[in-house]
Amino acid sequence: MKKVLFAASEAVPFIKTGGLADVAGTLPANFPKNQYDVRVILPLYACMDLARKKNMKRILECQVSLNWRTQYAGVYQTQAAGVTYYLIDNEYYFSGPSPYDAIYLDAEKFAYFSKAVLTVLPLIGFQPDIIHCHDWQTGLLPVFLREQFAGDPFYRKIKTVFTIHNLRYQGRWFIDAIRDITGLADHCFTYDRLESYGKANLLKGGIVYADAVTTVSSSYCKEICTPEGGEGLDGALRARGSSLQGILNGLDYEVYHPGKDPLIAYPYSRSFSAYKASNKAVLQERMGLKQDPDTFLIGIVSRLTDQKGMDLIACRIDYVLQSEERIQLVVLGTGEERYEHMFQELAARYPGRAAAQIAYQEDAAHQIYAGCDAFLMPSMFEPCGLTQMMSLRYGTVPIVRETGGLKDTVEAYNEFEHT
Ligand code: ADP
Ligand code: GLC
Repeated sequence: MKKVLFAASEAVPFIKTGGLADVAGTLPANFPKNQYDVRVILPLYACMDLARKKNMKRILECQVSLNWRTQYAGVYQTQAAGVTYYLIDNEYYFSGPSPYDAIYLDAEKFAYFSKAVLTVLPLIGFQPDIIHCHDWQTGLLPVFLREQFAGDPFYRKIKTVFTIHNLRYQGRWFIDAIRDITGLADHCFTYDRLESYGKANLLKGGIVYADAVTTVSSSYCKEICTPEGGEGLDGALRARGSSLQGILNGLDYEVYHPGKDPLIAYPYSRSFSAYKASNKAVLQERMGLKQDPDTFLIGIVSRLTDQKGMDLIACRIDYVLQSEERIQLVVLGTGEERYEHMFQELAARYPGRAAAQIAYQEDAAHQIYAGCDAFLMPSMFEPCGLTQMMSLRYGTVPIVRETGGLKDTVEAYNEFEHT
């Protein structure tokens, strides 16, 4: 029986800001139970759903040392989808209104989390063969393991896998500050380790120190090894050679199931077109769009950032809406103010034809996947992307740019063969 520990900053059903949570909360439950004992460890954020906290049991308390600091850690345990979850409690670090904050706070917060994960393992009595770390928030974990824990026989055989869900977010902060927080020795801050363009780079820590590095699609894996897509780290990535691999994400087809989805008005498993019309009508009504079954309804569910191709949309959306009366657009998302305003203004200019819901709403997201004819996602870059797969699952045609995971999951329309 192989033992695996997922260490991540978010996972469904506990806390979610993006696709990382979908993956970190779904993948562990999908390992064959007779071969793998997979558990997950997360921060216990004050902003987590209170209902989730009811079933958690506090199993231990300890102290975590971060250089000259000694910080409290409580460990809670619970179950979800048959998987054991551990949650690290520390109000000083995890009581903000959302999981993430400014980097000067998050650098210490997630250094603490990475250190706490390693510190609590012997106390919990779980000795993983592999710790699977996700994104920069856990980038220091492989570094701490090798630099500060490997002398202890409990840790000696533990291997690490580091998965890059998004190379853009690197967790860069002043070297002096990171040295002070972590107590790591000077040799860790050289250009071939944590240093990057004059700062300490936590993501790079994961890339350099983990035994294996993966990212979430094979096209993105190739892109990040080039200067154009490497976000300044292509050299460090190329240096990993065959230890770097792209492995495509998947979806939980039981949660994203058009026939069983409790969040949509008309669940359907066959006859997509008939049911889509009913779901479309409900969506149009909810979003204040003109009720018309024959309009071509385009949906967007997204973080509103430049990554997701919002500038391309800004550039072409008037042309699209003016070229044909029977086109509608519905947008669900939050993010950069300039894009929130852009869509609000668009909705004001095209009443009944464009709608903007500047919010994070699980049910509205599902209703858009189910009720739209097409799903628009012209990302500048996309490590994998889950929303286009959700759209496909609901019979909604994704319109995407040929990049990263979009290239690997969406088959292009062939205008000659009509496939
Ligand atoms: P990323 O992680 O880059 O944001 P993904 O496509 O991998 O992109 O995953 C996004 C996830 O977040 C999906 O589960 C999607 O349904 C969800 N999501 C994004 N924006 C919203 C929103 N405004 N309301 C509800 N869910 C959202
Ligand atoms: C990141 C990426 C997205 C990917 C998700 C899960 O948020 O932006 O493309 O699907 O992680 O791996």
